[in-house]
Amino acid sequence: MSPRALSLRTLLFLGLCQTGKRSLASFPDLRDQPKRIAVVGAGIGGTAATYFLRQEFGTAVKIDVFEPSDVGGRMASVKIGDYEYETGGSVIHPLNLHMKHFIDKLGILQRKDVPSKMAIFDGKELTFEESDWFIINFLRLLWRYGFNFLRMQMWVESVLDKFMRIYQYQQFGYSFSSVEKLLHAMGGDSFLTLVNQTLEEAMLAEGFSQIFLNDIVAPITRVNYGQSVRINGFVGAVSLAGADSGLWAVDGGNKRVCSGLLYHSKAEVIPARVTAISVKVRPTKSGTTANYYEINYVGDSGSAHSLYDIVIIATPLHQGKSDISFSGFSPPIPSHYPGRYHLTVSTLVHGLLNVSYLGTTEQASEFVVSDVLTTDTKGSAINSLSSIDPVHIPPGYKRPPASQTKVWKVFSPQPLSQEQLRLMFLSWDSVSETQWLAYPAYSPPHRRTPPFILHDRLYYLNAVEWAASAMEMSAISARNLALLAHHRWHAQEAKIDQEDLHTRVRGEL
Ligand SMILES: Cc1cc2nc3c(=O)[nH]c(=O)nc-3n(C[C@H](O)[C@H](O)[C@H](O)COP(=O)(O)OP(=O)(O)OC[C@H]3O[C@@H](n4cnc5c(N)ncnc54)[C@H](O)[C@@H]3O)c2cc1C
Ligand SMILES: *[C@@H]1O[C@H](CO)[C@@H](O)[C@H](O)[C@H]1NC(C)=O
Ligand SMILES: *[C@@H]1O[C@H](CO)[C@@H](O)[C@H](O)[C@H]1NC(C)=O
Repeated sequence: MSPRALSLRTLLFLGLCQTGKRSLASFPDLRDQPKRIAVVGAGIGGTAATYFLRQEFGTAVKIDVFEPSDVGGRMASVKIGDYEYETGGSVIHPLNLHMKHFIDKLGILQRKDVPSKMAIFDGKELTFEESDWFIINFLRLLWRYGFNFLRMQMWVESVLDKFMRIYQYQQFGYSFSSVEKLLHAMGGDSFLTLVNQTLEEAMLAEGFSQIFLNDIVAPITRVNYGQSVRINGFVGAVSLAGADSGLWAVDGGNKRVCSGLLYHSKAEVIPARVTAISVKVRPTKSGTTANYYEINYVGDSGSAHSLYDIVIIATPLHQGKSDISFSGFSPPIPSHYPGRYHLTVSTLVHGLLNVSYLGTTEQASEFVVSDVLTTDTKGSAINSLSSIDPVHIPPGYKRPPASQTKVWKVFSPQPLSQEQLRLMFLSWDSVSETQWLAYPAYSPPHRRTPPFILHDRLYYLNAVEWAASAMEMSAISARNLALLAHHRWHAQEAKIDQEDLHTRVRGEL
């Protein structure tokens, strides 16, 4: 912490005491730092929160991270033969600045780039196949969809421009008390509207054609979110940005970022499942009372509980994702918020593709498409089919053509049956299936997004997923909650929910 920040904080404290406008009773001795912080979940959200909490609260506070399963959460890999492959969150946008910052800070490299090639499958044949030549792709798309394609890039860019403001706000220490306020600070009312309508509605209103939506946009939302163009417009824009060039992944596997952040933050990982959180009121030295949170957890060595000053929940509070009971809170906090998570089955097949499954007459030895996207047609069993590369690219690696046995990743809404596998593959020697409750099932207009603040100093990181679910979104939410927790602890209202930040921050530059 810088001395300047300290004195500012002291000033603020004195100011508050003088005006006495606010009851500070619930804050345990304001000038103290918190002693113990808990983070529930060690995915990218929880581990990034740990990193930013350490940054905000300094070295003295003890940070415990609860994780019953593997560090990384929805970033995970499996071993096939001699290599590891991503099964969950796999690609990162070049403008995802927090993810970029993490690998720089941790001294991790980006995975070596292997050029990819995309095609679109309508259940019968390939309706589009990317050429090696940009100009050919461009002309084909222009021919078929007019300027829809160019306009889409401009539309996504305009959303992205506003999105990028969040980094500046966070740089200046600003935080937001709800997902809506965070979105509003980035993109004003237009972002709130975007979250509240379908991507289809948003794009039709912008003048895009229905054919373009069906042929090009739907395959992109299907591969990224397993859902149609009826997802919300904001996550839709995030999804379309995911079709940009320059996407990257972490050398050695994306989940390395999570373990790296934990190590760097000197947090203690408690391999246990949190079962209950309750609020306890305790008297303090100065005669007032303070709230603590009691966390009950179950691990291999049985059950136990501990007290914390601040708690960040970094796992979705939804059916099938976690089951934490909250007691002593008023108003009560539910174990599960409304809405559900969407099932995406990720099946990694080490095998030989049946190229004619894709209705193409190309020779398998010539077929080098890496990503087959699919249109939203009735009865289509798969969302996408990709030839994937290991998390670490060995020297001299070249992606083999479809005539060789290699690793294919299939995303589908249901587990693949043996029959389906037999249609798609001529032979295989391993099949590895992961069923993910992957991201929210988006159906705007939606009920209110879950809150960031569940109670005084109890925060909920994954509320942000209802705007959009992505590694970077969890990282943004993590930074926001670390700042929010800090500012609320020290009663620094001036850094919370400020209006007009966009013009303000420019002034401060
Ligand atoms: C198949 C798939 C593909 C994806 N593709 C991409 C992509 O290409 N790019 C991208 O940016 N995003 C992608 N995503 C989304 C991205 O992976 C997630 O948004 C992100 O990883 C969420 O991170 P998180 O830390 O918020 O949640 P999680 O990773 O879900 O972490 C939550 C953690 O909490 C733990 N936990 C649960 N209950 C408890 C409890 N009671 N006590 C303690 N711990 C508990 C869980 O074990 C888990 O480790 C994809 C997701 C999936 C599933
Ligand atoms: C390959 O796919 C085609 C088209 O779906 C199918 O008719 C054929 O039976 C498949 N080949 C094998 C060997 O399964
Ligand atoms: C979203 O839409 C619903 C229903 O149309 C409406 O009640 C709600 O106020 C809207 N929310 C926002 C943030 O616009």
